[in-house]
Formats: sequence, structure tokens, C-alpha cells
Amino acid sequence: MSRLTVYRDDAPDTILLDVTTPGEIAETLRPHNIRFDRWSAPVTPAPDAPAEEVLEAYRPYLDTLMGETGAGSADVVRINASTPNLPELRKKFLSEHTHSEDEVRFFVHGQGAFVLHIRGRVYSVLCTQGDLISVPAGIPHWFDAGPSPDVVALRVFTDTTGWIAQYTGDDIANRFPAEVPAEASGNS
Ligand SMILES: [Fe+2]
Repeated sequence: MSRLTVYRDDAPDTILLDVTTPGEIAETLRPHNIRFDRWSAPVTPAPDAPAEEVLEAYRPYLDTLMGETGAGSADVVRINASTPNLPELRKKFLSEHTHSEDEVRFFVHGQGAFVLHIRGRVYSVLCTQGDLISVPAGIPHWFDAGPSPDVVALRVFTDTTGWIAQYTGDDIANRFPAEVPAEASGNS
């Protein structure tokens, strides 16, 4: 189940808001220019489906999104037990960072949490199968898919160099660990 939890950035133990419906999540994030949406393909591609098949399944959504945002390309990424250097990769995602372009991800399978740090608040967004999220350029954030990730995701780019992370050096992610339920793989 998708979930948004909001905290003050100096009070990790006090939840200000906790919502689980896609509508409430989208509505809370919209004022910060964060897009949260649900996409459903007529047939969900199998977890090991070729990238072309995954892209094709969501083509109408991708075309609309790319038309609205000016994004030029999309690809498919998988993070699972066979991903090389998984612990190091996880550590990289888990440090607060920004990008010079929007980070747009759609969860075809599995789940992961994007945690965004905006004007004194922390917005922890647990995304599950069927969720689209865009993290605007320049917004500090971190990401985790748990210790045993099993994720298939679409990435949408305007400029493939833009997703290189710029680390803020703030250790806030240690105080607000992304919360991903243990059953991180599989359906929402
Ligand atoms: Fe990022």
C-alpha cells in the first residue's frame, strides 16, 4: 500500500500527517510540484519482461507525460539480488542529494521510498506497484528499496546527464530512514 508520512525535519518521532490513498498523497505533494499518480496497463508486464515490452505497456501514459514535461526518453531499470554492488548502490541512494533535472520514476513491480526534504519538512513517500512519482530538480531527497530490493521501474528523462547526484553532505537521512516494509518485493 502506498503511503505518505510527513514530519518536521527536526522531529523524526512526531508524525504530522500520514495518508494512504493515492488522492490524498497526490494532493499533499502537488503544492510542492511533486507529481504523484497511478498508472495501470491493461496487462502488467511480467517482472522479467524485456524492456521494450514494459515501455510498450505504459506507452500511452509515457507519451502523455513526456508531452507535458518535455522529457525525451525513458528506460527500464531493475534492482534486485543480482544487481552488482547492491550494498554500495543502496548507500549512494540513501544519502541526501539533488539532481539538475526532475527524477521521474514509475514502479512496474516492487516498492521503494522516496524521502523529500522541503522547507523544514520531510515527506516520506512509499511507492508501490503502479505508482508514478516525480522529484523536482533541486529538491533534496534520498531513496531506499530496503535491504533485499526487487524492483522494476521506468525512468523518464529530459537529459540523461541530469540524474547524476549532487550530495548535500547533510546526514538527515540517518534520522529519517526510508521505511520499506520487509515484504519489499511483489505486489502492492
Ligand atoms: Fe535521486
